Amino acid sequence: MRIFLDTADLESIRRAADTGLLDGVTTNPSKIAATGRPYRALVRDVCSAVTGPVSVEAIAATADGLVKNAVEIAGLAPNIVVKVPVTPEGLKAARILETERSVKVNVTMVFAADQACLAMKTGATYVSVVLSRLDATSTDSLLLVEDAMAIKRHYGFSSAVLAASLKTRQHVLGCLRLGCDVVTLPESLFFQMYQHPLTDQGLAEFERDWARVLP
Ligand code: E4P
Repeated sequence: MRIFLDTADLESIRRAADTGLLDGVTTNPSKIAATGRPYRALVRDVCSAVTGPVSVEAIAATADGLVKNAVEIAGLAPNIVVKVPVTPEGLKAARILETERSVKVNVTMVFAADQACLAMKTGATYVSVVLSRLDATSTDSLLLVEDAMAIKRHYGFSSAVLAASLKTRQHVLGCLRLGCDVVTLPESLFFQMYQHPLTDQGLAEFERDWARVLP
């Protein structure tokens, strides 16, 4: 499973990239706005901080507008993937970008299996299913991950299923069990993945015992 960081915070990205285990980054307009930096310069810095793909969202009301905006965004760095929404205009743009403009696309804001199917039909490189926002509507978001992975298998779609908006280690575990292609995590959750109290306890014991035998 590939692990992306879901943030536009450069320091978070650098700390996670430093582990050697980070495969990419996803952003959205809210996360970019939260940095308070002009977006083009910020996006270039984020793209230099990681070797993997960096998703940046295009915004426009029409497919033509989305394509134009996406091509401009994709020109900022070679590792950019452009996010477009799972709307009729967004999916029109996704197909054009993938097939005619050589721009990799991440279809975002997917909350239902049929939306995931339509998104995959465009040839999008990534289809983002959004977990905790769905959980907040009393829906088990891991069922959506399961459905999206099943749709991909049944019909041989090439899109990677990207689980976004994860908030807990249970989300991570669920995605692992389902063979989800990619998760994108906040920094805190990424570093929680290293942790277990028995790891700490066992290491403390070993350290004490070494101290008894080492000169
Ligand atoms: C997904 O495409 C969204 O941009 C993002 O992952 C949402 O995360 P949030 O629910 O933590 O804001």
